[in-house]
Amino acid sequence: MSKEIVVSGIRSTGYLHLGNYFGAMKNYVKMQEDYDCYFFVADYHSLTTHPDPKDLKANVFRVVAENIASGLDPEKVALYAQSDIPEIPELYLLMNMLAYKGELEKVPTFKDKVRTQPDNVNAGLLTYPVLMAADVLIHKAVKVPVGKDQEQHVEMARNFANRFNHRYGDLFPEPQPFNFGSELVKVPSLDGTGKMSKSENGNATLYLADDDDLIRKKVMKAKTDSGPTEPNSEMPDYVQNIFQLMHLVSKPGTVDTYRGMYNDCTIRYGDMKKQLAEDMVAFIAPIRQKAIDLQNDEDGLRKILKAGAEKARESASKTITEARKLIGINYY
Ligand code: TYM
Repeated sequence: MSKEIVVSGIRSTGYLHLGNYFGAMKNYVKMQEDYDCYFFVADYHSLTTHPDPKDLKANVFRVVAENIASGLDPEKVALYAQSDIPEIPELYLLMNMLAYKGELEKVPTFKDKVRTQPDNVNAGLLTYPVLMAADVLIHKAVKVPVGKDQEQHVEMARNFANRFNHRYGDLFPEPQPFNFGSELVKVPSLDGTGKMSKSENGNATLYLADDDDLIRKKVMKAKTDSGPTEPNSEMPDYVQNIFQLMHLVSKPGTVDTYRGMYNDCTIRYGDMKKQLAEDMVAFIAPIRQKAIDLQNDEDGLRKILKAGAEKARESASKTITEARKLIGINYY
């Protein structure tokens, strides 16, 4: 029986962090065993913010290295750069004919960008979800492992797929967002506001490249208060966040111990954060070290990307040929 197809991507806009790991990469690593996986660096997507051309290559190679350091095996999956697959922008162009200005303008991530970068509201930003749909549909993926923040984009990919099928004939399955747990993940930032992020909130985000002291410093600065005064009282958001982070990297027994101390009002947040900092260091340090080693072997990374692009183009060229034919672009 053929395996289900999985696609997901990570933008090469900065250092990967714990949110990328637990929202996406942890799932990639588990899925590589049982699915037909295509994982890529979304370097075209990163161009919406006009990064310095001389940074691009290092950014792409770092994302590849950090994925492998997190457990991805390039022998088991296709690991490639989006810009190595010309069939993706071709499908993006075809899909743009089925995407409407009104629906694109309503996307919350677009509205956010309009607010935060009003001087650079370019068409690439507006059609970002269409490019994402092309990334996913080019391999006819059914599962898309992503964090909670990408849920709506995957829903749009599903809409575009249905629209294409309806107009031109059945080609695409419906892609669904995926997480091995019950719900998609949102890893909170350390300051109690929002989520960990590549581009904002650097002091409240734990990066896979952070050194041990920086990890300790960031964790110790996490927002807390003077502690509960009533047994079993409700937890403020920022304390919940610390428990959530502990749940990701510490032993279950450790989390239970601190939960008990919270409930009987004996908790000392300083101790809890020290414990969390050490557990974070133990989690991040080996990934960081492996990623550094991989980045020092540029030739090795280049080979991996080339092999990944070859695998990905094989599947992408089949889909684009079918899409062109259904649309009527087969003249000869
Ligand atoms: P990006 O590069 O912002 O993030 C990569 C992955 O990490 C997840 N993520 C999080 N998960 C939980 N908590 C967080 N704090 C957190 N921050 C990030 C994201 O949900 C994502 O899964 N548009 C995408 C890249 C993309 C893509 C695709 C994804 C391009 N084409 C096709 C899937 C399929 C993005 O900017 O992700």
